[in-house]
Amino acid sequence: MCGIVGYIGTRDAYPILMKGLARLEYRGYDSAGVVLLSDHTFNLYKKAGKVSELDAFTKGKNTSGTIGIGHTRWATHGVPNDTNAHPHLSNSGKLALIHNGIIENYATLKEQLTKKGYHFKSETDTEVLVNFIEEVKIQGNLNLEDAIRTALNEIIGAYAIVVMDIDNPDVLIAARKGSPLVVGIGKNEFFVASDASPIIEYTKNVVYLDDKEYAVLHRNGDFTIHTLGNVQMTPFVQELQMDLEAIEKGGFDHFMLKEIYEQPRALVDSIRGRVNAEDGWIKLGGVEEYLNRILKANRYIITACGTSYHAGLLGEYLIEDLSRIPVEVEFASEFRYRNPIIYNDDVVLAISQSGETADTLAAIEIAKERQALVYGICNVIGSSIARATHAGSYTHAGPEIGVASTKAFSTQVVLLILWALQIAEKKGSISTSYLRRILFELESIPKKIEEILKQNDAIREIAYKFHNAENFLYLGRGYNYPVAMEGALKLKEISYIHAEGYPAAEMKHGPIALIDEQMPVVVLATNESAREKIVSNIQEVKARKGQIIAVINEGDEEIRAMADYAIEIPSTEEILTPLLTVVPLQLLSYHIAVMRGANVDQPRNLAKSVTVE
Ligand code: G6P
Repeated sequence: MCGIVGYIGTRDAYPILMKGLARLEYRGYDSAGVVLLSDHTFNLYKKAGKVSELDAFTKGKNTSGTIGIGHTRWATHGVPNDTNAHPHLSNSGKLALIHNGIIENYATLKEQLTKKGYHFKSETDTEVLVNFIEEVKIQGNLNLEDAIRTALNEIIGAYAIVVMDIDNPDVLIAARKGSPLVVGIGKNEFFVASDASPIIEYTKNVVYLDDKEYAVLHRNGDFTIHTLGNVQMTPFVQELQMDLEAIEKGGFDHFMLKEIYEQPRALVDSIRGRVNAEDGWIKLGGVEEYLNRILKANRYIITACGTSYHAGLLGEYLIEDLSRIPVEVEFASEFRYRNPIIYNDDVVLAISQSGETADTLAAIEIAKERQALVYGICNVIGSSIARATHAGSYTHAGPEIGVASTKAFSTQVVLLILWALQIAEKKGSISTSYLRRILFELESIPKKIEEILKQNDAIREIAYKFHNAENFLYLGRGYNYPVAMEGALKLKEISYIHAEGYPAAEMKHGPIALIDEQMPVVVLATNESAREKIVSNIQEVKARKGQIIAVINEGDEEIRAMADYAIEIPSTEEILTPLLTVVPLQLLSYHIAVMRGANVDQPRNLAKSVTVE
């Protein structure tokens, strides 16, 4: 969702901005723009559509300048068109601004500014903000920094912004509240971006701005960070751990496919150092730190959005099954607005790949206000959620660029398995021998995923048969029910086929009415504990001429014979099956989307990191 790039230094800014915008494409956007400052003139270019279209549009035009800002916009206020695209200029033409987030009091400000004679070309809240800063600057006779700080103190909402001023060509100012922003520090040059991916090839030294902080970046290499309360902060310069390769496609056609194939490695990384199967122990640092409080809790609440919510559903099954502590799972967007009951001895688990999802962040704040302990499970290191929670564990999946989450999901599930096992072991609700057995099996899961990946060609053939379908149904029981939901989400996200995930037994309460010879039904048929019931579900579908694609345990000839198509997974412990059954569903969605000509990595209307509610 909206990408920000800024540069000030000695090099040509344009190629740095354009490459940076291309690296941020994965976040999801519908228009793009850049502005460069040279010879006391802003050269501003904006286009609805892709970054490549913006690049084509600027061919032969003046793109010189060693200071500039660029933006990919995901529309909130106003349709995606050239005018609403960022950057926006103030009425005097002296200030340029890019913005990620939502200014909630923009309508009031717009009215006030209109009365003062300001006019607006776009429908955006961003154009209101840049003019508001200008008005504050003029009325208070303030310098740029003071004007920005004063104006931001009046702003309600969430933002990350970068501002340029024609009268201050040697300075770039960046501020954040609720939307991520990172500053890359080079030699006499600075980079600003929504995440580290546009920065990584130039410098590894970065400062993540905290909420309500702004950075003033000077061309001579000096920089300062202040709070919006005007307190100077000592910058915490960190070294990025990520490398360029991690954010490039590495020979795969799409990031999504690369990330599906990275799962064996990602799982190894998420387990590494946290588990000793031989001795039967698990150590999640955050859990150790708050162990007493976690063990004393009468209830856990899991909150998340999208794919992370599906991992949360699995968390409920795992924790209740293994540690016998009640768990509630809730969409963060519902949790934050429905006046939930939260006790001060509750433990709230917030799950987020990006660590920036606005609804999840807001849910965390509510839980903290009510004094619950908040534990984060995030992928992006240093992200807002990772910092806002009391304790947490990183999933260590590595950068996930494809909008449809794959390796982030499997590593979240790994973390939840470890969480549940660690609590269960401390509570004494599982035996050490059981724990050891599960841990040994967990260590073998990456190899088993590799076995499934070898069936890619066969899965592509199944995809071919069904790529023109209009609907899909996914059914699963127990641990496979959240996987059915996730499989359906993957398909609808990237192929735009309507798909629903259901607990298999619920089929007869509604979805069965949809089944005819046109309806492919993906059945996750690997749970031995519910085998007879799954067999009955398959028969119910077959009786209505539905087409069965079954995910089965290796060697299950009985279900293979009943299904139209079957994909085998190596057998494993039931609580670990989601780590295997999800993989063929990811591949199936991927191939169907490719065959339908969809933009797999950047599906329409979706954003990777949803920083607005
Ligand atoms: C967006 C993404 C999804 C993701 C969801 C939650 O909708 O497109 O893939 O599952 O946000 O994101 P999070 O970063 O909090 O896991």
